[in-house]
Amino acid sequence: MLPPVRTVTVLPGPRSYRIKIGTGLLDRLGHECAELKLGARCAIISDTNVQPRFGDAAQRALTKAGFDPVVLTVPAGERAKSLRTVEGCYNKLAAHRLERKSFLVALGGGVVGDLAGFVAASYLRGIPFVQVPTTLLGQVDSSVGGKVGVNLKAGKNLVGAFHQPRLVLCDLATLSTLPMREYRAGLAEVIKYGIISDAAFYRRLERDLPKLLAREPKTLAAIVARCCEIKAEVVRQDETESGLRAILNFGHTIGHALEAISHYGKYLHGEAISIGQVAAARLSARVLGLSQIDVERIRTLFEQAGLPTEVKLSPSQLHHLMAAMSLDKKVASGEIKFVLARKIGEVKFGLRVSEKLLQQTLANTFPPPPLPHSPTPPLHFRYVRR
Ligand SMILES: NC(=O)c1ccc[n+]([C@@H]2O[C@H](COP(=O)([O-])OP(=O)(O)OC[C@H]3O[C@@H](n4cnc5c(N)ncnc54)[C@H](O)[C@@H]3O)[C@@H](O)[C@H]2O)c1
Ligand SMILES: [Zn+2]
Repeated sequence: MLPPVRTVTVLPGPRSYRIKIGTGLLDRLGHECAELKLGARCAIISDTNVQPRFGDAAQRALTKAGFDPVVLTVPAGERAKSLRTVEGCYNKLAAHRLERKSFLVALGGGVVGDLAGFVAASYLRGIPFVQVPTTLLGQVDSSVGGKVGVNLKAGKNLVGAFHQPRLVLCDLATLSTLPMREYRAGLAEVIKYGIISDAAFYRRLERDLPKLLAREPKTLAAIVARCCEIKAEVVRQDETESGLRAILNFGHTIGHALEAISHYGKYLHGEAISIGQVAAARLSARVLGLSQIDVERIRTLFEQAGLPTEVKLSPSQLHHLMAAMSLDKKVASGEIKFVLARKIGEVKFGLRVSEKLLQQTLANTFPPPPLPHSPTPPLHFRYVRR
């Protein structure tokens, strides 16, 4: 008997698509693409970590269903999200004579998904693409919602588009080779969904965390599916990020600033937003009266997931952190806008917080290190909200 497959539908109307979640779905990639009536010629875009593990299976599945795939392998890591890589992909697609009905398969984490999605959005003014996310972050977050793009030297995700995939296949079996640190980083987004919109889900995470950390298939399937449902619902209500979609950025204003002041080197995104969410919870207590019990539940869950919950910053690093947050486009007259929680499962967005209150909260959250402190790293990237 085939293992069960969970399905989440994203968006109504002509751009509607399905997220399928289950174990072993990669083998059905060809069959699924055939159902979408996509053209025969296609390309799999993957990276140097994922291609050796799952590239053959993806290629076999497509070929068996009558497709003619070419495989493009980009270097693993954030640097592949560049216009130079995009151009390299265009040239290979043209050499393989991909045409308007052709499609791309993004096989990898969020980097490959954002890159391949952007290539698909722009090659021949847009061709279809299918997401096969192989990181937990990819499955619960980046593959859903249609935001695609690449980085510039001046900042992350500065060039991009909204281009919805035709299908998202989350094969939970691919997560088995994901390094534990990357897996935990994905859990930071999972926990976020509980905080922003589902108290019962949050309680389940508290209860089932050991199973989740052990990547127990049934638990993982239910949890990935619930995260996709929550993101799909937010995207349905605000496809182009004009309002509600902001709630997906809980903990991200502080998290992104931390990534920026540490040169995008020290922390994985999930680790930075773990610290950011704990700080946002403390800020929520001050601004919206989030109970101390909930603040502590939030801190504890991130800690139990093996994620960092605080950093020690010198006063000048704290100053840089504040400056990085102020670079957010959504800053108005010295007040940074935040997503904050009233209670676990309920957040408000667009809340103005004075720099003074923010600084006070952050100073408590990030106690200064003992002297002598390390030199402050200069700011490199402009912070752009994701
Ligand atoms: N489009 C969106 O809405 C959205 C949302 C959130 C994040 N993002 C983007 O996603 C990116 C981060 O994604 P990520 O965390 O998945 O990073 P990633 O794609 O770099 O993957 C993390 C690492 O894991 C490796 N890997 C992937 N799958 C693997 C597997 N199954 N087994 C072993 N190794 C594997 C990758 O090669 C890489 O080294 C960022 O660029 C971010 O901007 C986009
Ligand atoms: Zn995030």
